[in-house]
Amino acid sequence: MPEVTFHGHSCVTIKDGEHSLIVDPFISMNPQATTDVVKLDAKYILVTHGHGDHIGDAIFLAKQNKAKIICSFELGHLCQKEGAEDVHMMHIGGGFNFPFGRVKMTIAHHGGGYGEDASYYTGPPVGFLITIGGKTIYHPGDTGLFLDMKLIGEMNDIDLAFLPIGDNFTMDIRDAAKAVEFLKPKKVVPFHYDTWEIIEADPNDFKTQVKDSEVVILDPGQSLTL
Ligand code: NI
Ligand code: MN
Repeated sequence: MPEVTFHGHSCVTIKDGEHSLIVDPFISMNPQATTDVVKLDAKYILVTHGHGDHIGDAIFLAKQNKAKIICSFELGHLCQKEGAEDVHMMHIGGGFNFPFGRVKMTIAHHGGGYGEDASYYTGPPVGFLITIGGKTIYHPGDTGLFLDMKLIGEMNDIDLAFLPIGDNFTMDIRDAAKAVEFLKPKKVVPFHYDTWEIIEADPNDFKTQVKDSEVVILDPGQSLTL
């Protein structure tokens, strides 16, 4: 029964008692984060793309925890250049069985530049289907709505999906509600909103637009057990 904790923006930790993962470890610069990055003990760091609000503290945590970074081939090379020693590179459509479970990399429609002006190319952005403790969690990264979500929903029994609702850089609430129809997750948690003024959104509005899945609104620091 994995325990999933939301840390604000797109940062999520997943623990199953034995293993500890973090996805998009944006903590120290995250205005929503309620925890201190030095307290995070994740041994696996999954990064969807090179934007600062996703790669965040990945390199710091990789060193602090002697953790393995899991990301795309291009982003993996950047992480190595930045000093990460243990990097598992994958690519879209591929999956791999790790000691904690399986990760499959999915498409995302977004950008992938790194650095203050996003000028360092880090390959295409991705999402993750993570299977741990018998449960499947979908973290789509930053993306617009795409029809292949229907295929992802058909081929996977998703227990929990996170979906961005903040608009401007990603899906808005209406598109995220359509994504829920495609993905058919048992539970859905909205994220990537209210971090800054430009992505303000009302998660209760999302809740009223979603019909067939349970919407769980998590405040930063809150957890749910699957
Ligand atoms: Ni982004
Ligand atoms: Mn983002």
